[in-house]
Amino acid sequence: MAQGTLARYLTEEQRDKGVITADLKFLIEIVSRACQAISIAIGKGSLGGVLGEAGSDNVQGEAQKKLDVLSNEILLDANEWGGHLAAMASEEMDLPHTIPHRYPQGEYLLLFDPLDGSSNIDVNVSIGTIFSVLKCPEGADLSSPEAAEAAFLQPGTAQVAAGYAVYGPTTLLVLTVGDGVVVFTLDREHGHFVLTQDNVQIPADTKEFAINLSNQRFWEAPVQRYVAEMQQGTAGPLGKDYNMRWVASMVADVHRIMTRGGIFMYPLDSKMKDKGGKLRLMYEANPMAFLVEQAGGTATTGRQRILEIMPNQLHQRVPVILGSKNEVDRITGYHAA
Ligand code: AHG
Ligand code: MN
Ligand code: MN
Repeated sequence: MAQGTLARYLTEEQRDKGVITADLKFLIEIVSRACQAISIAIGKGSLGGVLGEAGSDNVQGEAQKKLDVLSNEILLDANEWGGHLAAMASEEMDLPHTIPHRYPQGEYLLLFDPLDGSSNIDVNVSIGTIFSVLKCPEGADLSSPEAAEAAFLQPGTAQVAAGYAVYGPTTLLVLTVGDGVVVFTLDREHGHFVLTQDNVQIPADTKEFAINLSNQRFWEAPVQRYVAEMQQGTAGPLGKDYNMRWVASMVADVHRIMTRGGIFMYPLDSKMKDKGGKLRLMYEANPMAFLVEQAGGTATTGRQRILEIMPNQLHQRVPVILGSKNEVDRITGYHAA
């Protein structure tokens, strides 16, 4: 079993391996503390008055839950003063949050989905936080939130770190700095994250798939074909029986795949074609794709490697197919056929 704390892991990545800078180490520690604070708020549930609707909509026209808003505020407050960031962007904010002039500016950009799986908050099912870190291009215009958006429009291959926290029976932090994937478990008594798994590897083969089957009639032909073949099991061309799981929290579905393999799909469908997909590229698809690839898995839109998409909008949506390599390769191949 791996040992040590998040602080120790990050120190080794910085000091011994030279994989991360001191500022990136600090940034990840701050994000981890924000995730602890979110975990504590979630754990209070009704007793903390954190459940239910916020009474507002976000930029994507989705009704915000109180915890969407609270988690966003926790991440903003934790990160704006440290001097490690140039700007932040979030699912819950139309425009980037530039660093107030009273604080020093750093070289990194932080993007987050503060609370993923909002539909599961009030039913006490696992939810999470997803984050992605980019370097701010030299000379980027950060004079206004509007101008700052351009600095964020970088492909996922440019990420220097990505991770998610899952708030489940235990709170976990799953992280990559481009040196494999590591898992930390929150020690609630001592208030820090402890390394509990390193070198996470997603098995190349699987018998488990995750998709929202209620969208079936809207899918494109390659997805129809692949899911039909899985449902045929041993009687079909794939020659094995599959099981289906759909938590409807991307963090929880991806974490299951990190743990025992599987394929997760939120493909393009005809009712959302003009939007480009359901999941957001910059703070859902890209960080998850970086983690999945670092764990030996694959992540595509069906037509393209997710990490190579050149974004043109901060809140851009994309189809997402990720997980066990051989299954993702199969359905990606069906798109090309
Ligand atoms: P969010 O709560 O951040 O808006 O994200 C929800 C996403 C993702 O977590 C999940 O995989 C998917 O939406 C669930 O969609 P369905 O409700 O269509 O199942
Ligand atoms: Mn989400
Ligand atoms: Mn969210």
